[in-house]
Amino acid sequence: MKMPRGGRLFLATSLGSLLVLVLYFQSITRPEAAVKTGGRPGKSSRSPLQSLLDGDELELSAVQRSLRGRRDLLEQACRNHTRKRRVLSPEDLKHLIVDDKHGLIYCYVPKVACTNWKRVLMVLTGDGRYTDPLSIPANEAHVAGRLRTLSEFSTVEINQRLRSYLKFLFVREPFERLVSAYRNKFTRSYNTAFHKRYGTKIIRRHRAEPRPEALAAGADVSFGEFVQYLVDPRTQREEPFNEHWERVHSLCHPCLIRYDVVGKYETLEPDAAAVIRLAGVEDAVQFPASAKSTRTDGDMAARFFKHISPFYQRKLFNLYRMDFTLFNYSTPQYLRTR
Ligand SMILES: *[C@@H]1O[C@H](CO)[C@@H](O)[C@H](O)[C@H]1NC(C)=O
Ligand SMILES: *[C@@H]1O[C@H](CO)[C@@H](O)[C@H](O)[C@H]1NC(C)=O
Repeated sequence: MKMPRGGRLFLATSLGSLLVLVLYFQSITRPEAAVKTGGRPGKSSRSPLQSLLDGDELELSAVQRSLRGRRDLLEQACRNHTRKRRVLSPEDLKHLIVDDKHGLIYCYVPKVACTNWKRVLMVLTGDGRYTDPLSIPANEAHVAGRLRTLSEFSTVEINQRLRSYLKFLFVREPFERLVSAYRNKFTRSYNTAFHKRYGTKIIRRHRAEPRPEALAAGADVSFGEFVQYLVDPRTQREEPFNEHWERVHSLCHPCLIRYDVVGKYETLEPDAAAVIRLAGVEDAVQFPASAKSTRTDGDMAARFFKHISPFYQRKLFNLYRMDFTLFNYSTPQYLRTR
């Protein structure tokens, strides 16, 4: 890192984004107020997205109604739970994938069907290079630079896109996502990069008298040790969480960026189809049907939490509480916090 030059550049970008993002907020608060008070009658020429945003209840399908309900709830929860309006920097926008051709912004959240969404966006932005999302190997979908992210644009371009594009993200029950991340990164022998990078540190810190082989490989982290690592204040002081267990709230900034659609993993198929329809790309691509066999569900999460003490369950719940609240997930039945 070349500090002096990078520092100046960063300062310049930050100042620029401060200015322009303020403009973005002004522009989104106004139409919002207009929708609330106006109750405008529907027009036949509206796009599907406009119907979703301000259409009559009667015109909306059940899926659209539930999408709108979620969006309204998110807005309300944000008003209730966030005090200050922080200013976004381009660094905050690294998870927002941009499709300029179709006017789409997708915030990707690992462990929530993000490989398939990235494949879909590669088809949409690929100028005919791909037609079938599933023909794209998973590792290729994750190569950095294949898809453009909003952080790569200038602040003016960022704000143009935030104002006019269809913005969506997909979320999942936070603890099911967490257990899924744990199983994928720490219980599969092939994930040696994660074992080295995180496993060795977790074992060093959270295991009493570890064997030298365990310390060296970091390959047998237990779920309990992983939880201790997450709630340890040192962890986030040292570096941000890895994206696989970082909260959606921190990855996608749903209280600062007004997403049009909040899809859920629990209703992935209808929600994905609704997004594709709203985006007007149903002729170009279909969301791949997923294999359900390896899904982490509530029962599995309950089994993993059984061996976590109430003390740590409570701490972990506090850590992920905002994701539960913003996306209307209820406190899991199995949770013991006392
Ligand atoms: C929030 O969750 C509750 C309980 O699961 C459900 O009944 C309600 O419809 C949800 N609200 C929205 C807006 O999705
Ligand atoms: C926000 O606060 C209002 C007023 O206290 C309450 O009625 C509403 O249920 C809250 N909504 C959410 C999503 O937290």
